[in-house]
Amino acid sequence: MRNIDENTITPAVLQRIAGTESPRLKEIMASLVTHLHDFVRDVKLTEEEWKAGIDFLTETGQKCSATRQEFILLSDTLGVSMLTIALNHAKPPGATEATVFGPFHTDDAPHADEGADIAGGAPGLPLFVRACVRGLDGVPVANAEVHVWQADEDGLYDVQRPELGDTRRARAVLRTDARGCVGFRSIVPTAYPIPTDGPVGRMLVATGRHPWRPAHVHFMIRAPGYQDLTTHLFKDPDPYLDSDVVFGVRSSLVGDYVEHGPGTAPDGSAVATPFFTLDHTFVLPRA
Ligand code: BEZ
Ligand code: FE
Repeated sequence: MRNIDENTITPAVLQRIAGTESPRLKEIMASLVTHLHDFVRDVKLTEEEWKAGIDFLTETGQKCSATRQEFILLSDTLGVSMLTIALNHAKPPGATEATVFGPFHTDDAPHADEGADIAGGAPGLPLFVRACVRGLDGVPVANAEVHVWQADEDGLYDVQRPELGDTRRARAVLRTDARGCVGFRSIVPTAYPIPTDGPVGRMLVATGRHPWRPAHVHFMIRAPGYQDLTTHLFKDPDPYLDSDVVFGVRSSLVGDYVEHGPGTAPDGSAVATPFFTLDHTFVLPRA
């Protein structure tokens, strides 16, 4: 096709990809091109703005490394990650809702036994967690794998502290007992800003946004015969519960963090500082 103009360019590109073998790829590419062209027409994109966009995406790629995924951060902060999760993890009533995975899970978290202190020296007030896993029918899910990870009192994950090297703390993998439960000691999580030393940070500043996530503990639960669950338990009150930078908060995921004065903890130990307890039941639909 010749004589391309602003109206004929879209059908021309669509025609060019009409031979795409995979029907799904064809659908995705056609929709992407159509929306992208409509966007350019809608805002009447200038060449300078096009160049700024290319530079922004280039920098986003250049910021990526083995330990930093700036494109996922971009997706998270634009709500694309949460939209994809909402579309793909629509849960039946009663099932625990999913939220973003985030960049701070590691595959080498230590395995922990019932009652273990998983904080490993991370700073923070003690938190005693009892988490149970059930099916939608209420049946306890024994032997489920429960991954837990969280930030410390300073709002930092272990992997954000170079001084720790490969030492892992405030994270663990546990297995539910015959009653479908795990119990462990950790620390109270704190709100924290996502990494802002890259193009996503500049985008947040330019659009008048703060970089904060409300305090939460991450859970990932896997049990044979049940759907995998990746979620958080948020702590209330928190100044950022209604403005999470990655749009990950769901009211059903606000956990029951209860504050206690110094005294005897649920595991019978004496605690000299205030501490918190958190009891929660996760409900999984069948696979
Ligand atoms: C997190 O909760 O660990 C997280 C999620 C999305 C972006 C950054 C951090
Ligand atoms: Fe997190």
